[in-house]
Amino acid sequence: MLTSQETLPNQSQLNKMKFRNAKPEDAAGIAAVLKECYNISTIEEGIEVFRSEIQKQYHFIVAEDNDKIIGLTTWQMHGLPKHMLCELDRIAVLPEFRGKGVAKGLFDALIKFADEEYQKDGLSLRKVYLLTHADNKRAHAFYQKMGMSHETTLKNHFYADKDEWVFSRFF
Ligand SMILES: CC(C)(COP(=O)(O)OP(=O)(O)OC[C@H]1O[C@@H](n2cnc3c(N)ncnc32)[C@H](O)[C@@H]1OP(=O)(O)O)[C@@H](O)C(=O)NCCC(=O)NCCS
Repeated sequence: MLTSQETLPNQSQLNKMKFRNAKPEDAAGIAAVLKECYNISTIEEGIEVFRSEIQKQYHFIVAEDNDKIIGLTTWQMHGLPKHMLCELDRIAVLPEFRGKGVAKGLFDALIKFADEEYQKDGLSLRKVYLLTHADNKRAHAFYQKMGMSHETTLKNHFYADKDEWVFSRFF
């Protein structure tokens, strides 16, 4: 029996996979994914990133396969509740588990869980958006598959010589 904070994917090869909100004891597994997929050097640094982002009110959703954390996504409510906005901050899957629909499962769980948060206030999710490097073409292809569109470009945003693309999807 699934709780309201758990989803299962449709694909037969992912039958044992679960998408759920992270718990404090997931720190090491989350750190392993962060270390593999981002500019994070050690498990200790990954654990620190997890703790610091939880304190900043980021929600972490993990993909779990046979008790192993193989992917994650993070999101945050932005603005006032009446804006009904959600920013996707991170999404990453361990390299050996890519191309199996894991990130799609994480994305679907994010939409569901964010909408459930808004429903607690009698509202519903209206827009999801994210920033991604202009040159991360693989991520662009994934986001487009998730029904998102390139909404605008932020010039020289995080770095003086690097643009960011804003992708968004309205509901
Ligand atoms: C981007 C990433 C999360 C995708 O994870 P994944 O589990 O392999 O993606 P999925 O298998 O769920 O793919 C879902 C859909 O996106 C498409 N897709 C995923 N990666 C793709 C790529 N590199 N190129 C083209 N299409 C891609 C898939 O073909 C699939 O489409 P389909 O449903 O029509 O078959 C993964 O490659 C990753 O962790 N990358 C490193 C971290 C990163 O760059 N994150 C984004 C930072 S902004």
